[in-house]
Amino acid sequence: MIEEVVEQRRMPPWHADPRYGHFANDRSLTADERARLLAWVEQGAPLGEVKDLPPAKTFQEGWSIGKPDVVFEIPEPYYVPAQGTVAYVHFRVPTNFQEDRWIQAAEAVPGDPSVVHHIVVYLMDRSETPRRGPGEHFCGYAPGEMPTVLPPGTAKKIPAGTDLIFQLHYTPNGRMKVDRSKVGFVFAKEPPKRQAYTIAIANPDLILPPQRDNVAVSSTAVLSADARLLSFMPHMHLRGKDFRYTIVPPDGAPRVVLSVPAYDFGWQTYYVLQKAIDLPKGSQIECLAHFDNSSNNPYNPDPSKLVRWGEQTWEEMMIGYVDVDVPAGSPPPIAKPDFRPAAIRLRQSAVQALLKRSVASRPAESKAAKNEAR
Ligand code: HEM
Repeated sequence: MIEEVVEQRRMPPWHADPRYGHFANDRSLTADERARLLAWVEQGAPLGEVKDLPPAKTFQEGWSIGKPDVVFEIPEPYYVPAQGTVAYVHFRVPTNFQEDRWIQAAEAVPGDPSVVHHIVVYLMDRSETPRRGPGEHFCGYAPGEMPTVLPPGTAKKIPAGTDLIFQLHYTPNGRMKVDRSKVGFVFAKEPPKRQAYTIAIANPDLILPPQRDNVAVSSTAVLSADARLLSFMPHMHLRGKDFRYTIVPPDGAPRVVLSVPAYDFGWQTYYVLQKAIDLPKGSQIECLAHFDNSSNNPYNPDPSKLVRWGEQTWEEMMIGYVDVDVPAGSPPPIAKPDFRPAAIRLRQSAVQALLKRSVASRPAESKAAKNEAR
C-alpha cells in the first residue's frame, strides 16, 4: 500500500504543481527520498538497526502551534443533531483585551472534528452588531488546513476591545454530538514590523450549468499599496477541479505563483511561500478555477443541478484566500470583498434546549457520549 500511494503521489498529501513556487510547508518527497522509500518497500520493508532509530517526534498535546498564550472557547456546548442540515452558527466571544495584542500564531481546533466541517474566526469591534456581516477574517480550521504561523517580524493585530466571532459549520453524521470548539493564540514576543491580513479574493456570482465538466471561474484583486504575499489557500467545494494564482505587476509579465491542478476538497491546504513575494502597488492577483459539474466527477453531489454560490457543501464557492503583509499599522492593501459570506444567524436557543434535554434524558449513554464528545 505504501508503494502504491507513494508511486501515485497520493502520499504524502501535497497538491501544488512543483513547477510553480517553493513552499515552506511542502510535504512532498524529493526524488531521492521517493527512490529510497520505494527501494526499502522492494526489499520487504526491513526494520534495520534499532539503535539507528531517530527519537520519536514530540507534539504539544492538542495544539500544533505549541502551547498557546491564550485560548478562547465558544461560550457553551453546541448540540449537533443526528440528522438534517444545520445553517452556519455564530458565537460572539469577547477577548477582553485591554490593549492591542499582536498574534504570531493562531489555531482553531474543533471540539468534535467528526461534525465540524469548518471554523472561521472573525474579528469584530465590540460596538458593531453582528448583523452587519462577520467582520475581519482572522483564522480558521477545515480538514487538511494548517494553522496560521506568521514569519518572524510579522503578526496579526487584535485591537483592544475586539470580540471574536466564531462561524461554525456543523454537518450532522447520524449521531447526536456535542461540540465545544476553541481557538488558541501565541502572542508575538515583540512588536512586529509588519502586519498580516487574510484576504478573500472570491467570485460569488459563479454559475455552474448541469453536466458541464470544465467551467472556468475567475476573481481578481488589485493592491492599493505595496505589500508582500505570504501564503495562499484556494477554497472550493466538491465540484472544484483546479485552482491557479497568477500575479500581474503593473509593468511586468504575469507569473503563476501557485497551481493546484487536481484540487481535493478533503485537503484544504495553506500554501506558505518559502520566500515572501514583494508586490508593488497596482499589482493584480488573479485567481482562476475550473469546476466539474458533470457525472464524470465522482464527488459531484448532483450533476443534474445548476449550481450557484452557497454555504453548504452541495453548493459551491470560489475563494482565493491570500495572506499578505504591510508595514505594521497600515490598513489592508485590498478592500474587503463586497460579498457577505452569510447573514449572521444567531443560535437557535429553543432547538438547542430541546437537544440538550434529549441528551439529558438518555442517562448512561448520554453521559458517555458527552464525555466522548468533550
Ligand atoms: C511518506 C509519507 C507517507 C506515507 C508512506 C503514507 C502512507 C499512507 C497510506 C499507505 C495510506 C492508506 C491509503 C489508503 O487507504 O488508500 C495513507 C492514508 C492517509 N494518510 Fe498518509 N502517508 C504519508 C504521509 C502522510 C502525511 C504527511 C499526512 C498528513 C499530513 C498523511 C495523512 C493521511 C491521511 C489523512 C490518510 C487517509 C486518507 C484517505 O483515506 O483518503 N499521510 N497514507
